[in-house]
Amino acid sequence: MGKYLERIANSPLALTFKDVILLPSFSTIEPREVDLSTNITVNLRGSTPIVSSPMDTVTESALAIAMAMLGGLGVIHRNCSSEEQVNMVKKVKEAEVRCLKKVYLYSHSTIEEAEKVFRKTELESVPVINKTGSFVGYLSRRKLSSCDPQDHVYKCAEKGPVLRIKDLEKNSLNSQNIAVVDDNGRLFGVLANEGDEDIVSLLDEEGRLAVAAAISPFSEKRVELLEKWVDAFVVDVAHFHNINCISATKKLLKKTSREVVVGNIGTYEACVDIITSLDDVAGLRVGIASGSICSTGIVTGVAAPTLFAVASVRDALEDYGASKIPIIADGGIGSPGDAAKALAAGASSVMLGRALAGTSEASSPLIRVGGRLYKLYRGMGSKSALAERYSADRYSAPSKKIAEGVEGLVPYRGSVEGVVREFREGLKAALGYVGAKNIPELWQKARFARLTSVGFREVLPHDIVLDIGL
Ligand code: XMP
Repeated sequence: MGKYLERIANSPLALTFKDVILLPSFSTIEPREVDLSTNITVNLRGSTPIVSSPMDTVTESALAIAMAMLGGLGVIHRNCSSEEQVNMVKKVKEAEVRCLKKVYLYSHSTIEEAEKVFRKTELESVPVINKTGSFVGYLSRRKLSSCDPQDHVYKCAEKGPVLRIKDLEKNSLNSQNIAVVDDNGRLFGVLANEGDEDIVSLLDEEGRLAVAAAISPFSEKRVELLEKWVDAFVVDVAHFHNINCISATKKLLKKTSREVVVGNIGTYEACVDIITSLDDVAGLRVGIASGSICSTGIVTGVAAPTLFAVASVRDALEDYGASKIPIIADGGIGSPGDAAKALAAGASSVMLGRALAGTSEASSPLIRVGGRLYKLYRGMGSKSALAERYSADRYSAPSKKIAEGVEGLVPYRGSVEGVVREFREGLKAALGYVGAKNIPELWQKARFARLTSVGFREVLPHDIVLDIGL
């Protein structure tokens, strides 16, 4: 065989999420015993292994606040002026740290039923919603005794202050019992200071919510402006394994006292070059062209699918004694199962774009199409995003003239808390199947098996007449 043919014939198999499954193992761990806490960066340890992507339709202040409150991390995008980005980061730092509880009563429930809910919560008043989920008022604990047990809740409900999601960051209200509603008046939580047993908000040393900011390695001015506000920088380029990016980051690392995560990378060699030429990298963002809105693979033929990339980079970290550097798996993670595979392959956390883009807190507008609600989601290399980057980001003129991303709509999914909780529950169940009580144990115990495309169809719901969503 000639060398050209051999190069193709002996190429590695770049497997990704849909190509593999995790095998179940003997387990002594119940999902509720699983500890999901993880190092998102070398020094930032979160109780939720989820990071929101620095995309302009995903992470601005509202989502970053919610992510940190839920124990993960938000990375504020950089497709805006430095001043705008600093303002977004400041809003996160100025936000009050509060928990959002999912406690509510239906207006048509009875007072007797409401009493049961009050027994399970320490809240002094509980929001009341109608059948469509819209907030209608509060039922307070003190009112209970003056109501007939068979009365409907709406009869005893009272008006009270509400907070819109987008006002969360404004800290305008100090009470602990405030209902938070979306743009359509639908309840998505109640602010309360009771702690959830295993979700601990991710805070900086001063007790403020932690936040990261995306930067170009070439924008020194922006870094200076952000420096005193952020906990970490994420060097945000499509292909970090590039001499100019590495040398610019070398300079940057000398100037900043903040942690610096770099990416994206996708290969063993990229990791080796980074850890041998840069000191104090605080994390690696790994995966190239697996993202739901990416067209890099089509446009250029180049990709390092996230699962393959994570395992390759993890091997390099272990081989070079640098395994304390955490990997953030990025791109194509649409479900808790994908996230479990990414973590099992060696990542410490997962970065989500599409999965968070449909939430109330994501920065894009809500759009109604044919009676259904959607949110806009676009790649940062899409035509329209690139157009803004030309005018807004003076410090890093894009060198490529071709779009590497697409834009479209994703279904509206309500609050980010719901999505994060779904991922957390799925991950806990996955670790339970594998028999791992935490993420480092998952790295040791996980066993993968490859699927055929026929097999992949079988592990999805299949062969039912009607999916009624139960
Ligand atoms: P998901 O699958 O979570 O992926 O939506 C989000 C990740 O995709 C990357 N990204 C892009 N990749 N062209 C690309 O090739 C783009 O326009 C683009 N925009 C975002 C990025 O890593 C993000 O976190």
